[in-house]
Amino acid sequence: MLAPNFTPFPTLTTNRLVLRQITVEDAPELFFQRTDERVMKYIERPRPKDINDTITFINTISDLRDKNEIITWGIALKENPKLIGTVVYLNFKKEHYRAEFGYALHPDYWRKGIMDEVAKAVIDYGFNVMKLHSIEANINPENIASQKLLEKHKFVKEAYFKENFFWQGKFLDSAIYSLLNPNG
Ligand SMILES: CC(C)(COP(=O)(O)OP(=O)(O)OC[C@H]1O[C@@H](n2cnc3c(N)ncnc32)[C@H](O)[C@@H]1OP(=O)(O)O)[C@@H](O)C(=O)NCCC(=O)NCCS
Repeated sequence: MLAPNFTPFPTLTTNRLVLRQITVEDAPELFFQRTDERVMKYIERPRPKDINDTITFINTISDLRDKNEIITWGIALKENPKLIGTVVYLNFKKEHYRAEFGYALHPDYWRKGIMDEVAKAVIDYGFNVMKLHSIEANINPENIASQKLLEKHKFVKEAYFKENFFWQGKFLDSAIYSLLNPNG
């Protein structure tokens, strides 16, 4: 059975970035991320109505992390601690050594290879430290940026569900991608 342990918090560093714990001080940047329609275009999740909703969200993900049920990193440039994005493992299936992968970045930083750098570090952590056997991503098939990122990291499209997700009055399709641990 997968037995992840996120205490102490597993800060990760890459060439340009620090992947660190999110605190309530990040609430303004996270509120922006979760309400900006460019970022949220293909993220079918309720938007916070105000900053207090975002603070509650930060406290919820911290509590879940303390219970080893989710791990969310805040993405920042090494030279500036301001949060520019998030990356998360959630929906753990511990008995199957599987987790879902999610990510979002501030639009000012798109198309600069940032999430590519993040994905490398987080996939490495998922396979080599958490000991995942597989990583799943569930995307809106119209989300080409997300699809390209997954394909670049060798995720394979394994399923396509037609109109399985009801969101804001419409039934949406979902594509499921997955990546197997290359070391078995
Ligand atoms: C998806 C997202 C995280 C990609 O981040 P990013 O830092 O811009 O991606 P990168 O620059 O690392 O690019 C990774 C690959 O995807 C490609 N790519 C990124 N955005 C693309 C776009 N809009 N159209 C086509 N290809 C794109 C890049 O070209 C690159 O591939 P390449 O090196 O072979 O050229 C970003 O677009 C985002 O935050 N989107 C909104 C939130 C979201 O939809 N999250 C996913 C929910 S499932």
